[in-house]
Amino acid sequence: MSSVTFENVTKRFGEIAAVDALNLEVHDHEFLVLLGPSGCGKSTALRMIAGLDEPSEGDIRIGARVVNDVDPKDRDIAMVFQSYALYPHMTVRKNIEFPLDARKQPAAERAELVSGAAESLGLTDYLDRKPAQLSGGQRQRVALARAIVRRPSVFLMDEPLSNLDAKLRVQTRVELVELQRDLATTLIYVTHDQIEAMTMGDRIAIMRDGRLQQVGPPQDVYDNPANRFVAEFIGTPPMNTFAATAEAGRLLVGESVLQLAGHLRASVPDGPIIAGVRPEHFELADGAHATADSLSATAVLVESLGHERHIHCRLDSSDVVIARAAASEVCPAVGAPLRLIVDPQRIHAFNGDTGASYALA
Ligand SMILES: Nc1ncnc2c1ncn2[C@@H]1O[C@H](COP(=O)(O)OP(=O)(O)O)[C@@H](O)[C@H]1O
Ligand SMILES: [Mg+2]
Repeated sequence: MSSVTFENVTKRFGEIAAVDALNLEVHDHEFLVLLGPSGCGKSTALRMIAGLDEPSEGDIRIGARVVNDVDPKDRDIAMVFQSYALYPHMTVRKNIEFPLDARKQPAAERAELVSGAAESLGLTDYLDRKPAQLSGGQRQRVALARAIVRRPSVFLMDEPLSNLDAKLRVQTRVELVELQRDLATTLIYVTHDQIEAMTMGDRIAIMRDGRLQQVGPPQDVYDNPANRFVAEFIGTPPMNTFAATAEAGRLLVGESVLQLAGHLRASVPDGPIIAGVRPEHFELADGAHATADSLSATAVLVESLGHERHIHCRLDSSDVVIARAAASEVCPAVGAPLRLIVDPQRIHAFNGDTGASYALA
């Protein structure tokens, strides 16, 4: 069993709670992504699993065993960091083999582990080179190979792709997912990059200021964000949020009126709230005719990405939202009045004070 569990774990550095009352169970063989902005406590959480930081309160379990007092080297974990510290004077082969030196393993077995790890990361042809003769991406692979040879029951990775250029990051992302599947181990992966989280994780756990905001499969978190922070952190562009006034099951936005769907009609109280709509859920229409379930707006900027456009629109209320439109659609002129049609099922509603989604109320 190599599940990892945080039971009410808090880590304080002086006044700051870097991790605040964290409860989270990472399942055996799961690929869990810890996602959040810089400083939210991701690395601290990971370091506590590794034994590099000690919880101020609470327990950390690996499998059934509480490991708070277990030495890092006895935790059966391997950690890969953003900055891959390779030994410059050793060959790739020696670098990968290094963690095995401490074990009394027959040479043939060690050689087999090294060649297996090198092969799964495409390093076979580079085994006799020194790190200086490799690209950044290859060096990061050596660091991954060095973690793999240990055959740990839990992998911990802290922003391992951050130093790679965009193209290599996408490629390595795919390889890591395949690797985790082949190794069939638990992997906890820290990133601030929501695209990595969406594409790689079985589940995503989103943190803010040391506190867990939501945990779930990527699509669930995308479709049903628990609060405004999560809604605005995930998606490119992220969810649009704008001020609205709820009144008898409808949302008033300037002169425009949107109907609330059944599940929100019951839970949204009358008064000011924050509405949310994803950019792909706005349908653009000619501005001349008022229609039900649409917002009147003015196009202020059009960004063309080739396959699609991001139409920045100012609402009556002066909030600016982004609508995503296929490049094949008619492109509105900047300054032109238009209407943004929304299916009521696609509208999110958040408490203006707490940010909590009314869908969960
Ligand atoms: N060793 C430390 N001493 C003091 N404060 C720390 C230490 N490590 C982390 N912190 C603080 O804890 C918070 C969380 O840090 P960290 O876990 O590194 O965040 P993340 O990895 O999400 O960027 C930050 O406010 C950071 O400044
Ligand atoms: Mg960090």
